[in-house]
Amino acid sequence: MAKKKNITAAENSTQAFGTVRKTMSIALGEKTRLKSAENLNQLLADTMSLRDLYKKHHWQVSGPAFYQLHLLFDKHYEEQSDMVDGIAERVQMLGGVTVATAHDVVELTKIPRAPKHREAVETQIARLLEAHEIIIGEAREFASQAAGDGDDGTNDFLVGSIIRPNEMQAWFVGEHVEKG
Ligand SMILES: [Fe+2]
Repeated sequence: MAKKKNITAAENSTQAFGTVRKTMSIALGEKTRLKSAENLNQLLADTMSLRDLYKKHHWQVSGPAFYQLHLLFDKHYEEQSDMVDGIAERVQMLGGVTVATAHDVVELTKIPRAPKHREAVETQIARLLEAHEIIIGEAREFASQAAGDGDDGTNDFLVGSIIRPNEMQAWFVGEHVEKG
């Protein structure tokens, strides 16, 4: 039997991670595209973390609001999945290389790791709100940077497709707990 050949990064790479293509015909310089792609990859890793946190909570939720939260968490999971795809495709259209797998996410994400065990609804909600706040905060920072660099497409995408939907989700989730 033929020995299975290991796939190595070097011999199969067509573009190194952390680089952008020289030209993309979108009238944006390499430096700007590189910075936007780097910021978007951070946001991508964090959005993938939040997406998966929603599925974890969708499966593990319990209590009197089980049905309502089970459905809400899955709705938000689907919306976060769309955001993941939008962010990743924006990295590629800027000429970059996306992070993609769980291993990449673990290396990069700023969202704290949730334990494997099942948690109370209040803790699930606190965890989701914390993740939303991290994402909204960094997305605002990245949007300002993109605007300053003339990358209007990234700015518009971040404001309309990331910040506002995350604010909406944080509202829907947050209203399940009493606040001062
Ligand atoms: Fe399900």
